Amino acid sequence: MSAGQDWEELREANRANWDERAAVHMRSRFYDVEGWLREEPGPRRREAEALGDVSGLRLLHLQCHFGLDTLAWARAGARVTGLDFAPAAVAGAREIAERAGLAERSEFVCADVYEAVEALGHARFDIVYVSLGALCWLPSVERWAAQVGALVAPGGRFYLHDGHPLAWALAEDRLEFEHPYFEEPEPLADDSGYTYTDSEGPLLNRRQYEWNHGLGETVSALLHNGLHLEWLVEHDWTLWPKFPWLVEAADGTWRAPPGRPRLPLSFSLLASRAN
Ligand SMILES: C[S@@+](CC[C@H](N)C(=O)[O-])C[C@H]1O[C@@H](n2cnc3c(N)ncnc32)[C@H](O)[C@@H]1O
Repeated sequence: MSAGQDWEELREANRANWDERAAVHMRSRFYDVEGWLREEPGPRRREAEALGDVSGLRLLHLQCHFGLDTLAWARAGARVTGLDFAPAAVAGAREIAERAGLAERSEFVCADVYEAVEALGHARFDIVYVSLGALCWLPSVERWAAQVGALVAPGGRFYLHDGHPLAWALAEDRLEFEHPYFEEPEPLADDSGYTYTDSEGPLLNRRQYEWNHGLGETVSALLHNGLHLEWLVEHDWTLWPKFPWLVEAADGTWRAPPGRPRLPLSFSLLASRAN
């Protein structure tokens, strides 16, 4: 991190940014909360296939935002806990859980993911789950993996789907590298006030800090913290328009158009802890 700035200071800027974004996102067409309540979707097909029957399992979703992905797992039968550091996101998740009739099978905790073990009373989970847009808000992937490793119960599993570090390193509008591929102490400071949903104009809490983490750094951090890698897949698609030049496919994924090279835009992995 840059001289004179500590994690708490950067985290508070990110928290203010995400707190504001949570309210904007809950009203957005992108998340379509009313449609979600009507349609009652379960987990995404790929994720349901990867994790199988979750009935009765304890599932923890780290950086859960306002809980739509978390609650989809509750609908599939898991007992879910969502954790996020933005109070507006956690309040929104609790309200949506009530409206969806899933409050009895869900709990939402407001805490920094780096303090998750403590905030969750050293509980352990059958499944720890992390979905898109999580790692880039954290300066150290080792510190994150130490929390993940301590939260997976013996015999439990860890599922991650996140943006690909190679895509993170690219410039917005052209195929050129603009940012580091590897984790660096210096954050990328962004004052654009932009968010990825249809929004109502720039955010007031514009400043946000991000860090990249190479794929090897993320996998090694999980291995250092007691997990075993089951599989890792790099995808040529993502679930949000990461770049203005991506096109939406019929299945809702965002991909490079014909004529552009096929690049990794997201990745997913499954890891496990021995009994
Ligand atoms: C892109 S969103 C995750 C989106 C989620 N996959 C979804 O589509 O609903 C990232 C989330 O990470 C949370 N977050 C960022 N830094 C965090 C931290 N240090 N501790 C806990 N949550 C954090 C934000 O509040 C936000 O809700």
